[in-house]
Amino acid sequence: MTFLSATLNRVKPSPTIAVTTKAQELKAAGRDVIGLGAGEPDFDTPQNIKDAAVAAIAAGKTKYTAVDGIPELKEAICAKFARDNDLTYAPPQVTVGTGGKQVLYNAFMATLNPGDEVIIPAPYWVSYPDMVLLAGGTPVTVEASLEANFKITADQLEAAITSNTKWFLFNSPSNPTGAGYSRDELKALTDVLMRHPHVWVMTDDMYEHLAYDDFKFCTPAQVEPRLYDRTLTVNGVSKAYAMTGWRIGYAAGPEVLIKAMRKVQSQSTSNPCSISQNAALEALNGPQDFLAPNNVIFARRRDLVVSMLNQAPGIVCPNPEGAFYVYPSIAGCIGKTTTQGKRIDNDETFATALLEDTGVAVVFGAAFGLSPNFRVSYATSDAALKEACQRIIDFCKGLS
Ligand SMILES: Cc1ncc(COP(=O)(O)O)c(C=O)c1O
Repeated sequence: MTFLSATLNRVKPSPTIAVTTKAQELKAAGRDVIGLGAGEPDFDTPQNIKDAAVAAIAAGKTKYTAVDGIPELKEAICAKFARDNDLTYAPPQVTVGTGGKQVLYNAFMATLNPGDEVIIPAPYWVSYPDMVLLAGGTPVTVEASLEANFKITADQLEAAITSNTKWFLFNSPSNPTGAGYSRDELKALTDVLMRHPHVWVMTDDMYEHLAYDDFKFCTPAQVEPRLYDRTLTVNGVSKAYAMTGWRIGYAAGPEVLIKAMRKVQSQSTSNPCSISQNAALEALNGPQDFLAPNNVIFARRRDLVVSMLNQAPGIVCPNPEGAFYVYPSIAGCIGKTTTQGKRIDNDETFATALLEDTGVAVVFGAAFGLSPNFRVSYATSDAALKEACQRIIDFCKGLS
């Protein structure tokens, strides 16, 4: 008998955090390391949001709050859904948690029974399958290839649905690929879901505001209003408002589900941080005018990274619609050997050799369920990106 739970044996620690830790260790040892692993914007939380937090402290808003969010924030979230997504929700249909991560986790804990399946398009955000496993469910992955621009088709979704399917988990723009589904592409998927009334949709819209060129973000319940009664729309302030450390995420959906999620939260964290909730209130209700200039910067960085990585022999890098990631293929590097004599057998050995030989930290594709690839986060300075991409080009040129 082991002391640790059997459930814990089913999950693995976050590989993205492992890469960041290894990069930090090398840095501490004096190596010149450029980290392209972090999933957070490199700019600061806007001043008006910080000021709102300070004001909340001064006003004594430092006590426990309602379990799943203060009423003012729930009102602001309803207004946000109406403003940005044409979705009408009332406060009892809204929940606020300690990051989008807790909201997703609450939803799985509140709904999954052993044998319940959750369809997850791959490549996926690293936490999805493990959250499903922790909650006792079964992740069912559906592979979206590079040739399909990392998007699954209606036929693939149809083929993955069984009588045990409880949720279809959707994420656009995506972590780790940046791929964003157009309205037509999403409509093809929601048409499939209309034929399977027992399947609910959990949509993770965390990168909604990080969309470039003429890409128009849309969300399932907006594209197919008849799915409203079985959709949980998840979002948060972490990425768009550069508030990863404040830990506020939220969701809206049917009241019965929101109530069940509240029960889970009431017995775990009690409520999200009172000060952060007041900061998120300002984020959603305050000026949104910094979003567009930030997106100009992100789009410029994406263009830089895509064009440079495509100059590296053996690498093919698609140009995605949003988020701050690209997910190049290294199929052309497999089987080759580095100038240091290391053989590239898969994307993990590629990422390890790249870090050891050049000091560039990226996350290998196997962590996201599609290989052989790696993820680059371009939420860092142009100068760092240029230098990192040049090192990747030189590394690939050295392979033989
Ligand atoms: C796709 C996706 N969903 C959810 C989250 C969680 O965000 P939060 O910081 O709100 O927990 C992340 C964070 O990396 C993400 O990439």
